[in-house]
Formats: sequence, C-alpha cells, structure tokens
Amino acid sequence: MSKPAQFMDVPSYRGALNTSFVHRYSHGEDEWSWDIGMAKAARVFLESLGVTPDQHILDVGVGRARDASEFIQAGHRVTGLDIVQNSSWPLLRKRWGERLQLVCSALQDWQPSAGKLFDAVLDNGCFHHQHPDEWEAYLANIRQFARPGALIGLNVFGVDASNPTPGWRAMDNQRQGYFFTEQGVRETFEGFGFNWQELVVIERQHGDAVYLLALLRT
Ligand SMILES: C[S@@+](CC[C@H](N)C(=O)[O-])C[C@H]1O[C@@H](n2cnc3c(N)ncnc32)[C@H](O)[C@@H]1O
Repeated sequence: MSKPAQFMDVPSYRGALNTSFVHRYSHGEDEWSWDIGMAKAARVFLESLGVTPDQHILDVGVGRARDASEFIQAGHRVTGLDIVQNSSWPLLRKRWGERLQLVCSALQDWQPSAGKLFDAVLDNGCFHHQHPDEWEAYLANIRQFARPGALIGLNVFGVDASNPTPGWRAMDNQRQGYFFTEQGVRETFEGFGFNWQELVVIERQHGDAVYLLALLRT
C-alpha cells in the first residue's frame, strides 16, 4: 500500500473525514446505511459468530446502528463507536437500553474500561477510509480490544473488472477510500498480525466495485 502524494497530514485528514461524514449524514446522502451489500456483510458476520448467546460486540463506525440493532435482536450486546454523533442515536438508546452503548469517538482515541475485552469486532466500511499512517494503530486497537480467538470482521472496498487497479480513490470532501484486491486484503491483515479465516465477496448496491469481507481471528 503506497501513500498517494496528495495525502494530507493526519490531523488535517481527520478533519476532512469528519466534515465529509457529517455532511453526508446531515444531507441524507449516507447511501451505505441502506446498502444491501453492507447489510449482508453484517449478516455473514453474525452467522460466523455461532450460537453462543449474549456476546459483546464492538461495532467500529456504527453509523445509524443498522448492524448493531440486528445483533441485539439476535441476543447480543453492542458497543458502537463513531466520529459522528448520529441523529438516530437518542431513539436507539431508548429502544435498546443497556444492550447498546453508543460512543462518539474515533477508534484510535478510545479505550474500553479496564480489563474489558470484546467477544467480536465488526468494522463495516470504516477502515478503508483511514489515513495510511494510522492503519497500524487502528488495527492494533482492534486486536487489543478483542479477547484471544475473537472473530473480527473487516469489510472493505474491493476492485472489480471495471477498474482492477488497487489503491486510493478520491471521494467527496477530500475523503479517500482504499480499494483492495482479494490477495491484497489477505496480505494486509495478516501483515498486521491477524489470523486469516475467510474472504466473502459481496456485491455493492451503490457505486462501482465490490465489498470484500475479511473474517479474521485475533
Ligand atoms: C461508510 S460508513 C459505514 C457505517 C456503518 N458501519 C454501516 O454499515 O452503515 C463509515 C462510518 O465510519 C465512521 N468513522 C470513520 N472513521 C472513523 C474512526 N476512525 N473511528 C470511528 N468511526 C469512524 C463514519 O462516521 C461512518 O459513520
């Protein structure tokens, strides 16, 4: 993964990412919240969790908590992190009570309460937007916050035949997205210390390319 020349420094990029996501949510342009591909990624992750009830899941980039709500309905508990405080959160907190904790924070800045280890972590469409200089710290946090052997689901953009070149693609408001090959996704996550389990290729409803859901273990 090479960093494009146009990549700004980390604090400036974090500001741009925040502006981009605030804009998209406040203008109803968060089409991913209704993308059947992203919903499918969450369902595949849920099936891979197995039958053990009441698992505590960390949902990184929880957004409107579509996935979190499904996990709670399946009998689990969720802590959801996001850099944007979503307008849907007050109602969701009322609906799910203590089964759903919603925290406005970047994953890189957050610490769970002492000794807390999650049973599973899902990152559905968040990691591929992070500044390349933060990839290591971001993924290290995911590993450290999960119990040994925990299921980790990382759903990222994947290239398709219409544009098979992997790398960064510019999105709105200076937000960038990294598009992986199937081989690249495995090499990246193994390179950052995860144990490989499986790759699931998922059709993307909005936009080109595909989603690549990497199922990993700590
Ligand atoms: C493409 S959206 C996906 C949202 C949700 N997972 C879904 O499937 O609908 C990515 C989300 O990640 C959030 N986000 C971006 N960078 C983040 C970070 N470093 N830590 C936590 N959340 C972040 C954004 O605000 C946005 O809600």
